[in-house]
Amino acid sequence: MRVQVAIVGAGPAGLILGQLLHKAGIDAVVLEAHTPEYVLGRIRAGVLEQVAVDLLDEAGVGRRMHAEGLPHDGFELLIEGRRHRIDLAGLTGGKQVMVYGQTELTKDLMDARASAGLKTVYEAKDVSVHDFDTKRPRVRYRNGGDGQSHEIECDFIAGCDGFHGVCRASVPKNAIANFERVYPFGWLGLLSDTPPVSGELIYAKTERGFALCSMRSHTRSRYYVQVPLTEKVENWSDDKFWDELRKRLDPQANGRLVTGPSIEKSIAPLRSFVAEPMRFGRLFLAGDAAHIVPPTGAKGLNLAATDVRTLSRALIEFYAGSETGIDHYSARCLRRIWKAERFSWWMTMLLHTFPDTNPFEQRALDAELDYVVHSLAGRTTMAENYVGLPFED
Ligand code: APR
Ligand code: PHB
Repeated sequence: MRVQVAIVGAGPAGLILGQLLHKAGIDAVVLEAHTPEYVLGRIRAGVLEQVAVDLLDEAGVGRRMHAEGLPHDGFELLIEGRRHRIDLAGLTGGKQVMVYGQTELTKDLMDARASAGLKTVYEAKDVSVHDFDTKRPRVRYRNGGDGQSHEIECDFIAGCDGFHGVCRASVPKNAIANFERVYPFGWLGLLSDTPPVSGELIYAKTERGFALCSMRSHTRSRYYVQVPLTEKVENWSDDKFWDELRKRLDPQANGRLVTGPSIEKSIAPLRSFVAEPMRFGRLFLAGDAAHIVPPTGAKGLNLAATDVRTLSRALIEFYAGSETGIDHYSARCLRRIWKAERFSWWMTMLLHTFPDTNPFEQRALDAELDYVVHSLAGRTTMAENYVGLPFED
């Protein structure tokens, strides 16, 4: 088989890229190691910046997001029992974010792919990438059903296969530099079919640790509490989770909190990670394959979207006769990525309780948060980053 672009991974990065290339008349195949049900079963954040919303419109998959997504004008910080609103719209000249679950978005992308008749190979086993230092790269895989081996010849490989994927791992060690920060805690998340406690997200900092009240719709809520990395999800009954969440909220929230059985409950570790560069000859990394952010600023999905925005434009330019876009792909993406990495790391540092922190540093961080919420400049910085920075290309 021969295609112009072989996309490895059918998460948001791979599927959005597939859609953008299809719109541009570029022929691509998507190879995914797991089943569609498995891909949809992973519960991830769902706060979209305006640039991501615009991109999904451009990709032709925005209809349900506009009908069912919840535009938000602000969020609340609850710091040691006191509320402070970050008025996103007021501080950024009217910008909003869109709350729409990654699961729903992935479903929309899968449906769009299926109705356009585009080829996705699910349960592609032993995917391997070859010859990306030449003009004729190849991707090999084994069909999960009949076990048959296949080889795809292509012009480019897009490595959209997440943090644990095969693409980044196939790059020679001396050609790539990794930057990493691992945090000494995780987020225990619970999804429930209960109305959200508030119309806006609440990020809470308390002595017991961080908590977040988020939502998927008017009838489905997503809550998180910071837990030590040693915690096991089996040790958290729903009741224990709700009790701990209550201890981290204020009386106003507790008066409105509706609890119910969990639909999903899991612990996610927090990590900051960037691999540089993001292009190796004819192989491009995009999304979680190239970088990870802690979920505190909700940037993961947005970065995946903006990487593939840049990549799709670069590939379109290439087929129109210019290599400038592909030559600048890595530097363009990394400039934006590092700003989102900085923001997610900063939000994480400000809002969590760190075991074993130097008491001076803890006091300095507490003072910084106090400064941010009480200063117009501080709130503006937070809002501007949260709604997403403009493109500078
Ligand atoms: N072969 C084929 N597919 C693979 C392989 C492989 N060797 N390894 C991983 N994959 C698939 C995974 O099964 C997954 O479906 O690649 C996909 C990668 O998807 P994501 O992990 O969702 O990454 P990405 O598309 O970059 O999306 C980033 O997801 O993790 C969140 O917060 C993050 O919202 C952000 C978004
Ligand atoms: C979520 O709804 O899962 C969510 C929202 C905002 C975040 C992180 C996660 O910052």
